[in-house]
Amino acid sequence: MSKINLPEKLLDRLDLIFGKSNLQKILTTFKARQTTFRVNTLKNGKVEVLQKLQQNGFKVKRVAWFADAFILENKSQSELMKTDLFIDGKIYLQSLASMVPVIVLDPKVGDKVLDLTSAPGSKTSQIAMMMNKNGELVANEIDKIRFEKLVHNMNLLGIIDEKKEDWKFELINEDGIKIFEKYKDYFDKVLLDAPCSAEARIDLSDRRSYSYWNEKNIKDHAFLQKKLLFSAWSCLKKGGMLVYSTCTFAPEENESQIVWLKEKFGAELEIEKIEIKGLEKSRSLPEWRDIKFDKEINNCCRILPDKYIEGFFVVKIKKK
Ligand SMILES: C[S@@+](CC[C@H](N)C(=O)[O-])C[C@H]1O[C@@H](n2cnc3c(N)ncnc32)[C@H](O)[C@@H]1O
Repeated sequence: MSKINLPEKLLDRLDLIFGKSNLQKILTTFKARQTTFRVNTLKNGKVEVLQKLQQNGFKVKRVAWFADAFILENKSQSELMKTDLFIDGKIYLQSLASMVPVIVLDPKVGDKVLDLTSAPGSKTSQIAMMMNKNGELVANEIDKIRFEKLVHNMNLLGIIDEKKEDWKFELINEDGIKIFEKYKDYFDKVLLDAPCSAEARIDLSDRRSYSYWNEKNIKDHAFLQKKLLFSAWSCLKKGGMLVYSTCTFAPEENESQIVWLKEKFGAELEIEKIEIKGLEKSRSLPEWRDIKFDKEINNCCRILPDKYIEGFFVVKIKKK
């Protein structure tokens, strides 16, 4: 492999996380992946989409663990973005790993769901789709510009639908840290797809994807994540389910966050095992820099990056 230009400190950390023998293989995955998308089943069926793609010369491959997801096998992403299917919001471009947290959350018809940090809305739209636009969904985002993008996407994908009486959908542009003041113990399911240092999105051919990396950035994100986790947990009612996810490798933003939540709410929470048939995942880290994580923390799930999927951390926590 040619010389890797990543910061020395980051390489040392990745070495500790993955181990020497795996690291070289992991580094080969730090590049752009094939385009993947999800069919927007609120607007059309899979058969219709597949037929249209075939008529236009697109070849796609199914994803074993999610029937609505596909991998583009020929042609480019920009060609796919020129199709009516894309322009009309009948398909949505989304990385495969980004689809996992919502599958784990498992939103159902009639649920009350919160997506605490939601722009540009990839997961919000997936939640709405899995609920078949029936129940209550609140999607929040602090950043004004990203919030506008969220509103745009929700319109395009047909999630905003004021005529449907059994569908209550609200978009909020607030600080997620404070949302629990309004929604304490309210939701059946909460997703916190947290802002993070995004190490799993590093592309070695694009310096901008890692030039801002430093340990302080990890620390700052870990600090913010705790505040958001507190809010997310407080919004959840007894018996409800929280899914926490990040697209980073840093244990401070992953396992250590859950250790913190456990210390704070101990007996109230249970970390559930995640099983998705056909999706390969690895165990979470058993320890980080002299701190051994207890057994329950091993129920957290790390998705290792490969040719098709980026790295992701996902954990499913029940409020007892
Ligand atoms: C990982 S991204 C979310 C991606 C989104 N879930 C999706 O799948 O499309 C994290 C988001 O959290 C937002 N964010 C950061 N701090 C926040 C806060 N205090 N309250 C609410 N949102 C916040 C960021 O602006 C960013 O849009």
